[in-house]
This record gives sequence, structure tokens and C-alpha cells, in this order.
Amino acid sequence: MSENAFELDLPQRPRRHRRSDAMRRLVRETEVRTNDLIQPLFVIDGKGGSEEIDSMPGQQRLTIDLLADECSRLFDGGIPAVALFPKLDTSLKSALGKEALNKDTLILRAVRAVKKRCPELLVITDVALDPYTDHGHDGLLNKDGTDIENDHTVEVLMKMAVLNAQAGADFVAPSDMMDGRIGAIREALDEARLTHTSIMAYSAKFSSAYYGPFRDAVGSSKAAGTKLLNKDTYQLDPANRRMAVTETELDEAEGADVLMVKPAGPYLDIIRELRDRTELPVAAYQVSGEYAQIHAAARLGWLDLERTRDESLLSIKRAGADMILSYFAKDFVL
Ligand code: PBG
Repeated sequence: MSENAFELDLPQRPRRHRRSDAMRRLVRETEVRTNDLIQPLFVIDGKGGSEEIDSMPGQQRLTIDLLADECSRLFDGGIPAVALFPKLDTSLKSALGKEALNKDTLILRAVRAVKKRCPELLVITDVALDPYTDHGHDGLLNKDGTDIENDHTVEVLMKMAVLNAQAGADFVAPSDMMDGRIGAIREALDEARLTHTSIMAYSAKFSSAYYGPFRDAVGSSKAAGTKLLNKDTYQLDPANRRMAVTETELDEAEGADVLMVKPAGPYLDIIRELRDRTELPVAAYQVSGEYAQIHAAARLGWLDLERTRDESLLSIKRAGADMILSYFAKDFVL
């Protein structure tokens, strides 16, 4: 006790609610739940093998058998969903990304194996051409290689979405940012009697530097080989909030079941804006670069890994995300 008798006469003393752990727990407004988390996973061909991803410490590319094991561990731990991304052998990549429509392509075999092993675990597949094109773009280039052909790309994505859904994907997640793809994919799914398959739309997907480590993970960082050097003609300009709202409104009108904001941490304002505007679930993707920067700083001893991880997830939840795709999902839960 201080000797000082001075006391402020205050009507409110907010610190009363921060005096003990029990009090802080009682007044806590936001909590990240296991049920909110979606683990992204990378799959490669082969058996019994895994590859480390240098720029994403703790994340690996797994062969299908190991992927199925990992998925069942995650589901047993309470994680309701995984998002699967294939890394193809370079020999399977081409300008037109034809392997995307191979009925036995890696991702389809992976989805079938995971659903067989763990039928109740929700599986989300990415619908975009970047793992399949030798130039790493999400769509098909025009003749002189200066832009992506929107409608031609959508035609391929519709077929891809149907194949993914037929293999057992619970959600197809178009991450390409072409105009009109949500409505076209919904129609294609319904026509194939896949009315139960949900669409998780990458609606506010920004052209972000934070995707770098992911592009290492799936080997799609070669866009430098084309005249179209980056994804700025289809992914959103990070400066544009209103344009992000327009994209999400279009996706909702076209039949999206979940709207996504990506990246998450640098775009909390967009998450909040969406949560206030729509009645649909809002997903946020804490992307590879957000994961990598926390790990990098922790390796240098500059940040506490667990506390920073937990705070980053909590902030995304507090901003209004109903579900979070995060490479931290497993560590957070298990
Ligand atoms: C591809 C896709 C990307 C990510 C998810 N789907 C990369 C890109 O658009 O280049 C990024 C995820 C991450 O960085 O973790 N359509």
C-alpha cells in the first residue's frame, strides 16, 4: 500500500474487470474455438513420404497415405475441416493446365482417400489453375500472354469444380478471382446433381505479397516467365475496400455459401465490414506469409511464437471471422 492518500473520484474503474484471471475470463468477449479452424494441407504424389517447406516451418507436403493419417489426427483433435492443395510434378504442368481435368489427378485421389479414411471430416478444394499451369497463373493466358482469358478460364473451372465435388469435396473454393465464376460453378454443380456441395468463395482475395511461401509450397511462383508478371489483373488491389465489398456482393448474389477474405491479419477492416453487411458465414484465410513472418521472428527470438500465434488468431475472430483457415490450426489445438 502506498502512503499516498490521493484518490480520484471516478464513476467507472475499468481495471476492476482485469484484476484476476477469473475476472478476465468472465468478461472475455471473444474466443477462438477448435470448431472455427480449418487446416490447409499440401499433398504430393508417391507413398510414405513428406517434404519440408523451407519458408513454412512445421508444414510439410505429404503423400496421400500420410495425408490421410494426418487428417484423421486432426479430426480426432476436433478440427472440422481441411483445405487441400496439390503440388504437382513439374512434368505435369503446361500452359493450358490440362492436368486439372484429368479424372485421376492428384487432388482427386487425395480427396477420395481422405473421405474414405475420415468421412465426416469436411474437405475443401481450391478451384484455380495455378498448380497446373507452367506459368503459375490462376487461369488461361490470352494469345500474346498479356492477360488472363476470363470466360475461357471459368469454363475450365466449372469442370474442375464438378470433378472435385464428385470426388467427395464438401466445399469447392474458387480462388481465381475471375468474374462470374461463382454463378457458373453453382450452375455446373446443380446440373451434375451436386446440389449438396457448398461453395466457399474467395471473394475478397487481394493481390498480396503474403502468398510468397505458398507459391514455394505448390511451385507456382514462376509467373516471371510470362508478360503478365503478377496477379494484379484479377486479384484485388490492396488499396480498395469498396471494390472488395462489390466482389463479395456479387459472389453472394451468384450463390456463394461462404464468403472469404484473404489474407486475414492485414485486412481485418474488410473482415469486419463483411461481417456487418452479410448474413452468410465469413471465412478468413491467415495465409502462408502471415504464418512465415511469425515463425521467422520467433526463430530470431524477437517474438513469442505461441502468444503471437494466439493473438493473431484472436484478432481475426474479433474482427468478425466465423471460420479461419490457418496453418497454425493443428498447433493451436493439438
Ligand atoms: C491459388 C491460391 C493461393 C493461395 C491459396 N490459393 C496463391 C495465389 O493466389 O497465388 C495462397 C494461400 C497462402 O498464401 O497461404 N489460387
